[in-house]
Amino acid sequence: EFGVIRIRHNTAIGVCMNSTESADKYGTIKFIIENCIDPYSATLEFDSTLTENNIKIIKSSDPRKTCFYFPGFIDTHIHASQYPNCGIIGDNSTLLDWLNTYTFPTEAALKHLPYASQVYYKVVSNTLRNGTTTASYFTTIDLDATKMMAKICSKLGQRAMIGKVCMDQNSPEYYIETCQESVDSLLKLINYINDELCDPLVKPIVTPRFAPSCSSDLMTEISKIAQKQSLHIQTHLSENFNEIKWVKELFPNCENYTDVYRQNGLLSRKTVLAHSIHLSNKEIDIIKQTHSGISHCPISNTTLTSGECPVKQMYLYGLDKIGLGTDVSAGYSCSILESARAAYSVSRHLSIKQNDPICKLTIKECLFLATMGGAKVLDMDQLIGSFEVGKKFDCQEIDLQSPQSTIDFFDWQVLGNSTVAKKEPQLDVQLGEFDTNEILSKWFFNGDDRNVVNVWVNGKKTSTV
Ligand code: GUN
Ligand code: FE
Repeated sequence: EFGVIRIRHNTAIGVCMNSTESADKYGTIKFIIENCIDPYSATLEFDSTLTENNIKIIKSSDPRKTCFYFPGFIDTHIHASQYPNCGIIGDNSTLLDWLNTYTFPTEAALKHLPYASQVYYKVVSNTLRNGTTTASYFTTIDLDATKMMAKICSKLGQRAMIGKVCMDQNSPEYYIETCQESVDSLLKLINYINDELCDPLVKPIVTPRFAPSCSSDLMTEISKIAQKQSLHIQTHLSENFNEIKWVKELFPNCENYTDVYRQNGLLSRKTVLAHSIHLSNKEIDIIKQTHSGISHCPISNTTLTSGECPVKQMYLYGLDKIGLGTDVSAGYSCSILESARAAYSVSRHLSIKQNDPICKLTIKECLFLATMGGAKVLDMDQLIGSFEVGKKFDCQEIDLQSPQSTIDFFDWQVLGNSTVAKKEPQLDVQLGEFDTNEILSKWFFNGDDRNVVNVWVNGKKTSTV
């Protein structure tokens, strides 16, 4: 349930590493045994026919109370192609001028393949290092560079959706395609990923940039492809007031922005709608009816002064498919943990503005959005997002006292909830007395990539960390 983070102590997780079993079993969680004495006997308890030879035991690198395993983060909206501009946005940028000044030139430059390769390697490495085990990427209109991105995700072992951006109108002459070119490139990308790359972790995603840059013809053509091949779809929705006004002018026959996508066949249970800040209840109803999901991008919504997405209110209204997106590079960070903190802050600002405490997201709700929420948005909640038998082992190992960590702990630390707080500080107070919720809170507010010591995707340890 929303905001519930289940914490298991002294737990053994068994993961299928048998490559002779069918390929889709590999990396699957076979058992979870809590409060066990040691992982070896827990494994034998699960299957007594196993022997030392066919079990590989990985123990937490340092079983202190500040080490734990957490489900890998899910970034439901990130522009890999904008990574060079990470941290460059301009003090007075808003969406439409920012696209023309910063974004389109940056994306267009990625048609140079050696440069694209450099950029894409870096962005996949950096997100993995920050604990992102699954990401839904926008690339550019360029087919070859996008194929390269798919290959890089496969090579570095990240679970990924790869979207070649489709745009055939209202775009600069140096960065536009015709409807036919767009459809052809998309079909070629889908064939490449599904039939040549053949990595079950990497999938194509149909990616109309946003309504202003897509003709109705393009949207309906690519929606037919998505429908026929049962593919995911991603786009932007209701991010900025001028954008919304423009969409109204461009599509006078549609009731609202959300209706543009509905009428053109783009809303399904596999659709990811980034931002979705300024929606009417009518629009939220459409999203609920079509079972589409929302990617909340709080950092980007702040830097571009787009607005505050009322996540908690939408959730209470019954829209429960909401996850987090970094939205690099309108979002300045590759880290979903940082986006989760921003979601926390933005919800408080909304609460101040509306004088309503209901708006506030808790730490656990933000961490839920970062994992299970994202899994739901990508329609992959049977596969990833939490540690459950039958799901894939996508995991980050966190050490709050890793060698490079900047988080400090003190033997005498007096904490909010612990019994220690009620006593005078004593010399024999040990780290072991930290309250689990306080450990989670320390990580949430002060953690970063220096605390991510290992990352597994589909049961396999990735190597960029
Ligand atoms: N709307 C259309 N394109 C973009 C983009 O690249 N970033 C953001 N944040 N919004 C968009
Ligand atoms: Fe975006």
